[in-house]
Amino acid sequence: MKKIFNTLVAFCLFLSAFNLSAAEEEVMGPSLFERIGGETVVRQIVADTWANHTSNPIVKNRFANSDPVYVKQKVYEIFANATGAKVEYTGKAMDKTHATMNISDMEFNAVVDDVLAAMAKNKVGQQETNEVLAILWSVKPSIVNGNLTTKSLTATK
Ligand code: HEM
Repeated sequence: MKKIFNTLVAFCLFLSAFNLSAAEEEVMGPSLFERIGGETVVRQIVADTWANHTSNPIVKNRFANSDPVYVKQKVYEIFANATGAKVEYTGKAMDKTHATMNISDMEFNAVVDDVLAAMAKNKVGQQETNEVLAILWSVKPSIVNGNLTTKSLTATK
């Protein structure tokens, strides 16, 4: 009897796990990734962001020796993953990637501006733009060198 009960519980757990994403979507609505327009639009945003970076005088030299195909793929993956798509990020950790680059606040802002311009070009809505902006800012501590920020200029002791 206990065995049948256990089998039933296991079966119910399996069923509920199977239905989770559909149920999740019903409660939460479409993901940010989907609201932006899915893979085609996000890949276009990444391509336009790359074009903006490589012509932006503040950061273009940073990308002079980078492989565009590699970086665009990794940025697509991290963007998709962070906005709720079932896409795995296979690149390096954000802190490890950027730690030795001594990236400043100004460069971070320039990169964010490039993403914003790419989203505007692809007609991403204001709400979705705000949500992506919040994600970008949440990553800032892993990207910029804290010793180069204005904190060191405004510290009182
Ligand atoms: C929220 C902001 C940022 C995100 C999400 C981001 C994301 C990424 C990702 C996913 C990669 C590829 C990692 C890998 O090699 O596996 C990368 C590489 C890189 N990022 Fe960023 N990044 C950001 C900001 C910046 C900034 C502000 C700069 C400097 C201006 C920068 C410069 C670079 C460079 C030079 C590479 C190396 C490309 C290469 O390997 O050739 N990133 N970034």
